[in-house]
Amino acid sequence: MSTLITNIGQLVTNDPAYDGTPLGIMNDAALVVSDGEIEWIGPAAGAPHADELIDAEGRAAIPGFVDSHAHLMFGGDRAEEFAARMSGKPYTAGGIRTTVAATREATDDDLTARAQALTDEMRRQGTTTVEIKSGYGLTVDDEARALRLARELTPETTYLGAHVVSPDYADRPEEYVELVCGAMLAACAPYSRWVDVFCEDGAFGEDASRTILRAGMDAGLLPRIHANQLGPGPGVQLAVELGAASADHCTHLSDADVDALASGDTVATLLPGAEFSTRAVYPDARRLLDAGVTVALASDCNPGSSYTSSLPFCIAVAVRDMKMTPAEAMWSATAGGAQALRRDDVGVLAPGKAGHLVILDAPSYIHLVYRPGVPLVHRVIA
Ligand code: NIG
Ligand code: FE
Repeated sequence: MSTLITNIGQLVTNDPAYDGTPLGIMNDAALVVSDGEIEWIGPAAGAPHADELIDAEGRAAIPGFVDSHAHLMFGGDRAEEFAARMSGKPYTAGGIRTTVAATREATDDDLTARAQALTDEMRRQGTTTVEIKSGYGLTVDDEARALRLARELTPETTYLGAHVVSPDYADRPEEYVELVCGAMLAACAPYSRWVDVFCEDGAFGEDASRTILRAGMDAGLLPRIHANQLGPGPGVQLAVELGAASADHCTHLSDADVDALASGDTVATLLPGAEFSTRAVYPDARRLLDAGVTVALASDCNPGSSYTSSLPFCIAVAVRDMKMTPAEAMWSATAGGAQALRRDDVGVLAPGKAGHLVILDAPSYIHLVYRPGVPLVHRVIA
């Protein structure tokens, strides 16, 4: 079964071969998707025949968004905590424990229904690849359950037993680290591609984070890390030391952190939804980009610090408040997310890549920023 999508007024490919810029823009373009893969891209005038035809009628099309950081396996919500923050209470991540209690109480069906609803919501906003973390169970069974259910929704599953020390181990954090590296890892690894740790004061320090990530790597998982979110710390340098695919948040960085990121191949994943929803200072995207660091944008969708599933929203904030250009933000939410997940089959539209694309109700991708808050997704093909 092949589909020709034609009359694309502006096609963002992220393949610099087309125009010498990172976005690889082609005007008046068409492409053919066959059995889920792109078979042909070129000028609409020269498009080959296909079984099915989609006429974009001059609209812009972009690669599907790649959301490389989301916490979708949870019960309950924390709207009251959000309201309290907006009346001046600071964010501390202590609310994670509220969600842990609600998640443990939820049935398998509850957890799947919530995560499915959120991935559907993401899809309607143009996201075609999503990473899903555990981290709100914090027992062997609850973490393994979250990952087993997440695996039904995405291959990009992340073991985050080290989100915070489980309340059951509040006075023996070393024992909790042993559990995370032992029985919990053994139960979760079969359902996980990645291992993550929240390296932060109040969560896990440098030594514990290194121990946990190394244990995950020994079990065949690939490392990524929540780093430098709430204050300066060792997370970013640890990510580079271990060759992590991504250091996520990167809000409080020293010059040495930026240099480390620029010298390695760890992506800096910025999560503007978190600073928006915790009323915190945004990460300095401009500083990272000017230093040559690869930047990704992701939602961090979770019930505490960032309850948005919308990458168009994140792009708009990143441009308005983090000094990214529309082109940089567009790239970071697609090709950047793919690099943060070490995926070369998504985030780029070229022959042989996945046929994941979004037709926008707009003549240009710039409208995603220019018209913030407006639902501009016309059709998602994936
Ligand atoms: O990425 N930083 C740690 N984890 C989440 C917040 C989780 C929560 O508040 O429930 C984050 O922002
Ligand atoms: Fe997160």
